[in-house]
Formats: sequence, C-alpha cells, structure tokens
Amino acid sequence: EKGGYPSFMEKEINDQPAAVADTLLGRVDAFSRLTLDEMRIDPEALKKVTKIVVLACGTSAYAGSVAKYAIENWCRIPVEVELSHEFRYRDPIVDANTLVVSISQSGETMDTLMAVRYAKEQGALTLSICNTNGSTIPRESDAVLYTHAGPEIAVASTKAFLAQITATYLLGLYLGQLRGNLFTGQIKDILADLGKIPSKIQSILDRAEEIKELARSMSDASSVLFLGRHVGYPVAMEGALKLKEIAYIHAEGFAAGELKHGPIALIDEGQPVFVVVPSPRGRDSLHSKVVSNIQEVRARGAKTLVIAEAGDQAVAEFAEFVFYVPETPTLLMPLLSTVPLQLFACELATVKGLDVDQPRNLAKSVTVE
Ligand code: M6R
Repeated sequence: EKGGYPSFMEKEINDQPAAVADTLLGRVDAFSRLTLDEMRIDPEALKKVTKIVVLACGTSAYAGSVAKYAIENWCRIPVEVELSHEFRYRDPIVDANTLVVSISQSGETMDTLMAVRYAKEQGALTLSICNTNGSTIPRESDAVLYTHAGPEIAVASTKAFLAQITATYLLGLYLGQLRGNLFTGQIKDILADLGKIPSKIQSILDRAEEIKELARSMSDASSVLFLGRHVGYPVAMEGALKLKEIAYIHAEGFAAGELKHGPIALIDEGQPVFVVVPSPRGRDSLHSKVVSNIQEVRARGAKTLVIAEAGDQAVAEFAEFVFYVPETPTLLMPLLSTVPLQLFACELATVKGLDVDQPRNLAKSVTVE
C-alpha cells in the first residue's frame, strides 16, 4: 500500500504531481473557460459576493493563506483567512454577500464544522473545499469543490495541501471569469502555468536526495527557523509545522519582514534558518529584501538554508545550502517551494527513527472541539 516507500507520508509526497493534475482535471473546457458548475452555486450569487472568509485549521489554513494572495490579486475581492476555532467566538461580521470557503482535507474537523454552521446561521454562502467525498462539512455546506488528492493516510498533510491550493486557484480563476476581472487570455496563461506544475513537482522529487542529505546531517537540530515573504510566508509556516509535527523539533515560521521587529534576537551561532526566497523576476524589490534578510541572519551566525528559484544568481554566496525549484510565476511558487520542506521534515523524522505517519499526540482528523 505504501507503494514501496518507507512511510505513507513519503508516498503521499511523491503522489503530489498526480494530486495537482487530478484536481485540475475536467474543470476547464476547450476554450480555457472554468467549468465549475459541479459546485452548484448560483453564479448570480457569486457575482454579488463582497467578501470571502476562509475558515480552516492547521495546514489547510496555510492553504487558505496562500489562496488569499491569488484571489485578491485576480478578483479584487477582499479575502480574510481565519482559524475556524477563533472565528466562532468573536461575533464575526458575515452576511448574505459573504462567501465562506472552508478548507478541510477530512471534512470532519469539528472546529471547522462548527464555524461553517455558525456562518450558515448568519446567512453566509458556504463553500467547502474538501478531499473526502460525502464527509460532514461538504454535506452541510451550500456547495463543494472537491480536491482530488486521493486518500491521505499520514497524519502530516502533504498532497492534500497542494491539492487545496490548486482548488482555491480554480475557484479564484472562476470568480475572476464570472465577475469579469480576468480576461480569457489571462486565464488561459495561468491555466497553462498550472498545467506545468505536476512535471515541475516531479523534477523536484527526482532531486529529493539533495534535501534528504541535508536532513540527515541535521538529525541533532533542536530548533529550526523558517522565513518567507508574500506567498513564501505561509510556505515557511507550513515548513515549520511539518517539522514540529513529525520530527518533534522546535520550529517557527516568520514573515521575513518581521525579523527586525523581534525574531532576529533568536539568531546565534549555528542556528539553522530556512529562507524561502521569492523569484528574482517577481514583484520589485521583494527578492532583494529577502536576500538582505539572508545576509542579516548569516552575519549573526545562522546556518542559512535557502529555497530559491532556478537561475537565481544572488543567493548562493550567502547560503550554506541552496535547493533550486523550477521557474514559475510567483503566485504558483508555493506548489513547488513547499515540496523540499516536506521532504526535509520526512527524512529528518525518519533518521530519528520516529513514527513518521503516526506522530505522538496527534490524530488524522480532529473530531473534537
Ligand atoms: O482535515 P483538515 O484539513 O480539516 O485538518 C486540519 C488540520 O487538523 C490538519 O491540517 C493538521 O494541521 C495536519 N496534521 C497538518 O499536517
């Protein structure tokens, strides 16, 4: 069942090209038009949406944080991302023009279910992005867009995460199409770039040994920090979560811009710091700002471990280790840059002799509040 891999997690990391490809499959017609009629939402209601609220927990919430960048950019609709368990207890402002998008791999997470119920009571339109057919959250929502990652067994979520990002992007493109924010040509270009993601993930997996070797050399690490900016920020958070969950190593993700507002005080000799570097072709100055962050932490003794885009000439001289991911537009980068961080955590937990698939104290779906 593990397909020859030592753990379900490693198998599921390797399933990711298919998870993304299958989630894209059958949702676009020959004219590059999104065909999400399966959601069964009245398009007129979607046109009236003035705000999107994404509700989720854990890794699924990081998928929501990634989605915010894309949906706001493409559709100009404000997107708030909130942890399900925080949402319900603060009298949130939602109404009939709010689209509440819940994201859940299992469809059974109690915190998210309760938040969706609450949102429904307030009259919001509820859409579930879910990986489990017929589970409770999609059943209780007005509409559903399934991710097609296949069953995820390992407690640490990997392929569901990439499939969730893919599904939220389809939703964003659909809204952009429906509301006239995106031209057909733009949608076509973005879909073409999305279509290339599975083979790019595969090319990362083919080079897994590069990052696994690093992981094996760090089996005695007691703390690892992760920095990212823009869409790289939720990727950094996800990298840290994976490491906590399965390798039991203290790990924290930060927005790179926050460094000087506090976290830089943590840096001393030998502190490992992963930095997810934005594309040098992307938004002006973000790349150079993050490269400066690498220099800042390195000057204070950090061991700098960099995830950068292929062709980025600027990072190598400041890094102990660089993993290059293939070129892709900035908004799609999380679908690639997450993968080496998953492989890193998986290998580190494996060399520590831990139960990668069933980490202590955790359950695959959290069905209690
Ligand atoms: O099934 P869900 O997507 O609703 O689960 C949400 C979280 O419990 C889940 O993502 C958790 O954080 C994972 N163990 C992360 O690897």
